Amino acid sequence: MDDYASLEKQARGRIAAAGDLAALEALRVQYLGKQGSVSGLLKTLGAMAPDERQAKGPAIQALRQAVADALAERKEAMEAAELEARLAAETLDLSLPAPEAPKGSVHPVSQVMDELAEIFADMGFAVASGPEIEDEWHNFTALNMPESHPARAMHDTFYFPAEVDEPSGIEMGRMLLRTHTSPVQVRTMMSQGAPVRIIAPGRVYRSDSDATHTPMFHQVEGLVIDRGIHLGHLKWTLETFLKAFFEREDIVLRLRPSYFPFTEPSVEADVGFALESGRRVLGGSGDEPGHGWMELLGSGMVNRRVIESCNLDPDEWQGFAFGVGVDRLAMLKYGMDDLRAFFDGDVRWLRHYGFSPFDQPTLSAGVGARA
Ligand code: DAH
Repeated sequence: MDDYASLEKQARGRIAAAGDLAALEALRVQYLGKQGSVSGLLKTLGAMAPDERQAKGPAIQALRQAVADALAERKEAMEAAELEARLAAETLDLSLPAPEAPKGSVHPVSQVMDELAEIFADMGFAVASGPEIEDEWHNFTALNMPESHPARAMHDTFYFPAEVDEPSGIEMGRMLLRTHTSPVQVRTMMSQGAPVRIIAPGRVYRSDSDATHTPMFHQVEGLVIDRGIHLGHLKWTLETFLKAFFEREDIVLRLRPSYFPFTEPSVEADVGFALESGRRVLGGSGDEPGHGWMELLGSGMVNRRVIESCNLDPDEWQGFAFGVGVDRLAMLKYGMDDLRAFFDGDVRWLRHYGFSPFDQPTLSAGVGARA
């Protein structure tokens, strides 16, 4: 029995002195491996007489357990020390500037959407959104475009195949890719009631493609619903927005009578521009010599039929709405001339027209500041 005690003592001493995991593993093999000394003792049990085995068996098992525990304990301590050392060595200096490459950029469409959110937030507008896969009711019907309405045909809509209800054979309403952001007006009024003050930027789809049209493009919708809202509020809001967006005080707006099914009266807003060495530069009245008017956005007073469709009382609640192309706003502000390049993903274009992620638009620093 003394032999076992001294063997345990020796093993403990050597385990404590092991310098690294490899040395520890060598000790494990030496004591507990197939040919190990403790394993050898265990093997002798089989040849013992029952009395002797009963006396020595538990002692040898205890020895094996003691060595195994000592090995495990030392291993854990070593691994903990190693982790500590690695954590101490691998520091990361978060104050270092981001590496030069690879570096992405913020797409002008995203940048302009951030600018819009910033400008309108200052006027008390929240940002709302709706689904890009819409139903006919939200995209058309609730916006005063019933099935036979000619404006529906003008939208070059991408439809999904009509679904048929299995047992009855009845055709369900067709789903479509929304053709404008105006259905978000309907969804917002229905979900939150009145008053409303939102903008809704997002993707829209039409089957149309040339230098100024792509099958997917971006719009931002604006909607204000409250008591006693009139065209004056609309004009002030558009003027304030455009001055902040283009960062020019001399932006001049002209409201021209127009027609949209969801507004009554409807107006189109033109902005004045001057021709400077062949380029249109926004600012000043389009009626001055050398100036002209550029059509920019559609708007109007929300049609009372739309307000009714959204379960609000049009005698109590009035409002205005507007819709404008985000890509077009970006092109005008940052001087791109081909819309298709927006969606080509050409890294040279993105590097040239993209924005730094650190260039967050703020009203105080200028919503269009370039880093
Ligand atoms: N939804 C229209 C379009 O895509 C744009 C528009 C016009 C939106 C007038 C409006 C509006 O909210 O009042 O052509």
